[in-house]
Order: sequence, then structure tokens, then C-alpha cells
Amino acid sequence: MLKRKAQLVAELVSRRPKGWRSLLWNSAMAQLRRPGPLMAPVHVSIEPTNACNARCPVCETGKGEMHRRAGFLDEHAYRAFIDEAAPTTAVLMFYFMGEPFMHRSAYEMIRYARDKGIYVETCTNGDFVDAHGVLYSDVNRISFQIGGMDQATHQIYRVRTRLDKAMRNLEELIALRRRHPHSNVEIEVGFIVMRHNEHQVEEFLRWARAIGVDRANVIDPCVRNMAEAKRFLPEDRRYWYYDEEAFARGVLKPKKVPNNECVWIWNSIQLNWDGTAVPCCRDPNGLFALGNVFDQGLLAVFNGERATDFRRRILREQGKVPICRLCSGYGLPRLEHAKPAAFTVDRHTINRDGVPSHEQAIAEAADIAAG
Ligand SMILES: C[S@@+](CC[C@H](N)C(=O)[O-])C[C@H]1O[C@@H](n2cnc3c(N)ncnc32)[C@H](O)[C@@H]1O
Ligand code: SF4
Ligand code: SF4
Repeated sequence: MLKRKAQLVAELVSRRPKGWRSLLWNSAMAQLRRPGPLMAPVHVSIEPTNACNARCPVCETGKGEMHRRAGFLDEHAYRAFIDEAAPTTAVLMFYFMGEPFMHRSAYEMIRYARDKGIYVETCTNGDFVDAHGVLYSDVNRISFQIGGMDQATHQIYRVRTRLDKAMRNLEELIALRRRHPHSNVEIEVGFIVMRHNEHQVEEFLRWARAIGVDRANVIDPCVRNMAEAKRFLPEDRRYWYYDEEAFARGVLKPKKVPNNECVWIWNSIQLNWDGTAVPCCRDPNGLFALGNVFDQGLLAVFNGERATDFRRRILREQGKVPICRLCSGYGLPRLEHAKPAAFTVDRHTINRDGVPSHEQAIAEAADIAAG
């Protein structure tokens, strides 16, 4: 363990990727059990919207348990935030609790961060993705996440989405990227393994190889309670992130339970569409709101009283922090090297047909939340 840490430090110091000083300082503070003061987080996740066309029955957005108001990230506030965060942010995750490509300016916003030298990743149900838009955005990684190899299976979890649409958009993107070999876009396809689709994993992997994605990801499923666990967790325990013995006793808990530690939140921050910061993606409903980065600034929130108190709580009584109940922690964020966009797209036409207006999406989300 000590040897691995020393290797990591040596590698960071010799390679000096963007954010290396912050990662070292903040991780050392975590190790020393100090809640702050910290340097800026190297990892930022931002929510383009918490509205979605799908109704995935474990996701708070999909099952109508999103208690935050539905809304869309304001482009001007986003740009100002990226200007502030770009010098210190190594990785930006452009998604949280909704479908990122329902934001009409998703591609432009990603491109803005890319042009500021940030490595950007996103994740999508695939329905609205436009290949030209993705190529233009120069997003470093996009992951299409599907729920089965045929429509009937796919829609058991990816409720209200069309597998053929997602597959067509994905295949178009692969073809387009082939014509632009200098593009930085890396294409991933993910398969959320569940009880009803586990027999299709091999078929998924064969298909992913055949269509030529860069990476295929078989995703262990998350659930929030025993009822969901019984309905969705696969028979094949290799895909289980949960403790099997505890499950047999009727208790849902992860295999690894962190003990008053979480180096992740010493290095990362999660932002809702309105700029409210929360500790991590396990807080979809903003139980632990830390402040607003659009109003207060990133470092002020990250080192603010609420964030510091939250980290203190993690150090002292993590077992009583409800959002940690089903989490094993995420370890250290990766520091990715973001090559600048290798080419410019002078003219691009982004197809936004079928994407609901922001007003429609907000009204619909309010309906689901009202039950
Ligand atoms: C809340 S979604 C937002 C992004 C996008 N709407 C999507 O679903 O890909 C964030 C991530 O959670 C994943 N996800 C959703 N439900 C899941 C589940 N029950 N288990 C594991 N991952 C899940 C999605 O596939 C995606 O990678
Ligand atoms: S597609 Fe993503 S955001 Fe939408 S309901 Fe499913 S998991 Fe949630
Ligand atoms: S939920 Fe997970 S990532 Fe978030 S603070 Fe708790 S252990 Fe850390």
C-alpha cells in the first residue's frame, strides 16, 4: 500500500500532469485527516440539466424522486465558471442527473471547456446525440449507455428510449470519426447489467467489437433499496458491487464500506444545473448543499464552512451520513491530459430535431415529480 502510494507520488512529480500539485496536496490533507484548507478540486462534474426523456426506474430523475426543481444550466454562468475553473480543472464530467443532450447548447458548452484546455467526458442514453455536434464539441470521451440488445430488453430499464435510435446515433458517430482521424473524441458503449439482460453480455461485447467503438464497458448495476435489488440485481454475482452475505440477511450494503474516509471529495466537486455544489454524485437531491459556485466562486465553496464541515463529518462519523450508506468511495480521480482540439470545424449543422424545448422538458419533469 505504502509502496503504491510512493509510486503514485513519484509518477505525478515526474510527469506533472495538469492538477498534480492540487492532487498531491489535497490527498495529503485527506491522509492527514485534515478537512482543509484545500487547493482547487482537479475534478468537477456539472449538470447540464436534471430533466430527462427516459424513466429509468432506479434513477431519481427517472422514477420521479428528484426533489430539486427541473432546470437547465445557464450558458453565461457556465462560461464564466469555466473561465474561473479552467486553470485548475483536469477533468470535467459533463453530466449528472439528467440527459446532457437535452440541453440545446450541450455541444457548444463542451467545446468551450475543451478550448480552455479541459479534458471533458460525458455519458448519455443516446437518443438525442448528433454525431456532427459531438465531433464539433471535441469531447474527449462520450459513453452511450444501453440496457439491452433488443428493444424489449433495453426498455425494461431504459424506459421510454429507443435502442435503434441510440445505436444509429452511435454508429453515425463512429463513421464520422473515422473520416476525421485527428479528432480527440473517444467513443465508449456501456451496458448496464441487470437480471433481465445478463444473458446478453456476450452478444453486447461481440457487437461492440464489430461496430468499432474504442471501449466497451460492462457496468455493475446500482440500486437504492432491497426491492430494487431483488428486481434488478443479476443472478451472476460477478456483477455485484453489494455484499452477498448481508443481502441474504436482507441488508443492502456494498462489499467495501469506507471507514471515516473518502479521498474523492478532497479532490472533486459536483455541481447542479443552478450552480449549487454537493459533495459527490451520491447526493442527487442536494441533501448536503455546500453553496453556489456561480455566486460565490469555486474555491470559496470548496473551502467554505459547509464543505469543510461535511469533510469533518466524513472523518468522524461517516456511518451516519446517509448518502454514504451505499457507496464504497471512488478513490483518486484520474488526471487526464487534454490535447488541444486538433482541427476546427468551420461549418457544422447540428441536428436538434426531436429534442424537446427546455420549457417542455421542465414542465414534463414537474409532472413526474408530482407523481
Ligand atoms: C444519471 S445518469 C445521467 C446520464 C445519462 N442520462 C445516462 O443515463 O447515461 C448517470 C450514469 O448513471 C448510469 N446509471 C443509470 N442507472 C444506473 C444503475 N441502476 N446502475 C448503474 N448505473 C446506472 C447511467 O448509465 C449513466 O452512466
Ligand atoms: S437516462 Fe440517465 S438521467 Fe435519464 S432516467 Fe435514465 S439514468 Fe436517469
Ligand atoms: S457518498 Fe461516497 S463519494 Fe460521496 S462522500 Fe460518501 S463515500 Fe465519499
